[in-house]
Amino acid sequence: MAFTGVIARYRPLLDVPSHIYPVTLLEGDTPLIPVPRLAEELGGHFDLYVKFEGMNPTGSFKDRGMTVAISEAVGRGVQAVICASTGNTAASAAAYAARAGLRAIVIIPEGKVAAGKLAGAVAYGAEVIQIQGSFDDALSLVVSISEHHPIALVNSLNPYRLEGQKTAAFEIVDTLGKAPDWLCLPVGNAGNITSYWMGFQQYHGIKHSGLPQILGVQAQGSAPLVLGHPVEHPETVATAIRIGRPARGEQAMMASEQSHGRIIAVSDDEILVMQRRLARNGIWVEPASAAGLAGLAHEVKAGQLDLKGLQVVAVCTGHGMKDPDIISQSMPHPKIIPPDYSILEKVIEGDK
Ligand code: F0G
Repeated sequence: MAFTGVIARYRPLLDVPSHIYPVTLLEGDTPLIPVPRLAEELGGHFDLYVKFEGMNPTGSFKDRGMTVAISEAVGRGVQAVICASTGNTAASAAAYAARAGLRAIVIIPEGKVAAGKLAGAVAYGAEVIQIQGSFDDALSLVVSISEHHPIALVNSLNPYRLEGQKTAAFEIVDTLGKAPDWLCLPVGNAGNITSYWMGFQQYHGIKHSGLPQILGVQAQGSAPLVLGHPVEHPETVATAIRIGRPARGEQAMMASEQSHGRIIAVSDDEILVMQRRLARNGIWVEPASAAGLAGLAHEVKAGQLDLKGLQVVAVCTGHGMKDPDIISQSMPHPKIIPPDYSILEKVIEGDK
């Protein structure tokens, strides 16, 4: 069967109105990659897989939800969409709006969006506006704009975003034949953890596929769900999850409780170490995307999680190519030499 995007693949399971007009870039169907060497490094004796959502058309999981949100907006005759974003939602909204011929307006926190995401939003033709404030400020502004103008909000407050994003849970079950024992993922505005829990519950209701325990992971400087209160000035190297007032925070807490999981925080250092570890296993993700696995490693090391004999899926939400600066800051620069055989030979010998 030719793959046709998440709406065509899972339409009967999506709670969408009949007026939707599918706009797709053939998102979804992302690889579930076994990473046995990484499992061994983390203590071994369990099956570990990476759901690599960076393989979506604009390089992040946002495309799953955006195809549904834009399809619904187009079907009801909307001409323009708006979102606040730490970068990935912006690029995704811009791409799907371009595909549908809609106007896209994206509001981002000035200076806090990775280069590849900003470039994508601009390339797809969105009107990009930087605000001198945080993602949380941007989100409350776009909510008000969408209430006063005929412009559709495509942040994950839009329920159709969640309908699309829950398809990742379906895919994991379709590949493994059942739900994993644990699922770990980064948490920012908390739409994705909410969507996964919806998806696993729905499939379990139909297929008795089981339910995972969910480990949601925030960055220490942006951890409102761990602290139990909003964070006014969130900070983290993982700019995608630099969020102090998550719109779906309550649902995220419910997902963690109902699944008998938890939401924890890890340091920026732990995130960057895990980003490098993943890259050394051939999977280059952006910093936020490494947070889920960094949290898993943290819990295992602290003796809080015994994974022996279990199956674990780590959701890696976005591609490393979108945030090249972070790597060039933390890694040595490539050597420069003249085009000379013996010098090259010496350098290679010296590097052994
Ligand atoms: N990982 C990446 C790469 C993200 O871009 C985001 C969110 C998350 C994880 C967290 O997902 O918000 O559903 O809990 N990025 C949003 C954006 C906020 O604007 O692109 P969440």
